[in-house]
Amino acid sequence: MAAQLVFTQSLLSELRAQLLALAPSSVLLLCDTNTRQHAAPLAAALDATLLEVAAGEEHKNMDTATALWQKLLAAGADRHAVLVNVGGGMITDLGGFVAGNYKRGIRCVHVPCSLLAQVDAAIGGKTGINVQGFKNAVGLFYEPEAVLFDTALLRTLPERELISGKAEMFKHGILADESLFTALSQLAPTEIPALEWLQRAVEIKSNIVAIDPTEQAERKLLNFGHTLGHALESYFMHSQQPLLHGEAVFMGMLGETRLAVALGVLSETVGTNITKVLLPYQPGCHWPHIEALMPWLLQDKKNRGAKISFSLPTVIGEAIFDQQLLPDELRALASKIYNHP
Ligand SMILES: NC(=O)c1ccc[n+]([C@@H]2O[C@H](COP(=O)([O-])OP(=O)(O)OC[C@H]3O[C@@H](n4cnc5c(N)ncnc54)[C@H](O)[C@@H]3O)[C@@H](O)[C@H]2O)c1
Repeated sequence: MAAQLVFTQSLLSELRAQLLALAPSSVLLLCDTNTRQHAAPLAAALDATLLEVAAGEEHKNMDTATALWQKLLAAGADRHAVLVNVGGGMITDLGGFVAGNYKRGIRCVHVPCSLLAQVDAAIGGKTGINVQGFKNAVGLFYEPEAVLFDTALLRTLPERELISGKAEMFKHGILADESLFTALSQLAPTEIPALEWLQRAVEIKSNIVAIDPTEQAERKLLNFGHTLGHALESYFMHSQQPLLHGEAVFMGMLGETRLAVALGVLSETVGTNITKVLLPYQPGCHWPHIEALMPWLLQDKKNRGAKISFSLPTVIGEAIFDQQLLPDELRALASKIYNHP
């Protein structure tokens, strides 16, 4: 069953109401060292047990999950316990995985604290942990009972994380809602979006996921910016300055917007409009030569045979998927992709 999505400006009372309805035998709150500031007051007010793990993607692994299962056992959590995951995407992925496997599945609630988790990671039921450097190598689809959204949590988020999190919001606007794109384009990069626009972005993703949960068709639209974006993220991963996911997606959306214009699926005028709005979000790194990105582009999970697959906007608010290019066709267009005004 799909999770209940709750948009609130009074997190504690909303969480209390959700838990009352779930009637759990006990409540445990999971956080990391940075989101403890939000989780600890909630745990105290709800008389819940607080479980804290070290912050950072490198801790989204089996060792952390096993330590958490041991803590759940030590706390006497039975099958009617509820785990509340208070954190960014690392915590909602990890906490969903831990809940989904403990005693063959206990209920969980997500309270996403980063913008990326609010508009992306906490929606859609994907959970997972990394194994030997392979991202999300082990995981399961496990829907939380509810996801609670409160933009006040974003006030403590580091600026770089906030800016990066806007990539997926812009993407949702470009794919499905011009008014969302326009509203976001009027904000300064470091400004927290209003709850109504967060809600709109969340609805766009959850509607697409509901239509096509296993990515046979419409869900592929969500890959806009991610073919080039994933290749850029991988390219810079072992450099002096690795990119955050959203930073790579901003670069990917800029490149793929120019690609859409070069292929004639998007008008030059609209392409220039999107480019102007997204350019201030582009991180200060160089664009690597297309050949340097090829190893990753050729391994992209979305590819069909030898062709590289893209989802591209056709206007602001509509897009198409399965746009396939041979590597040589992409090489020939590379100068146009990089040619931002
Ligand atoms: N399940 C999915 O569908 C899905 C989709 C996209 C991403 N993800 C996963 O999400 C993770 C990335 O998410 P993320 O960017 O939120 O990473 P994250 O959880 O590591 O958060 C980024 C940093 O911000 C800190 N933080 C989070 N919220 C804060 C707050 N309110 N105040 C202060 N600090 C705060 C965290 O402690 C961390 O240091 C990755 O593991 C990725 O694989 C999952």
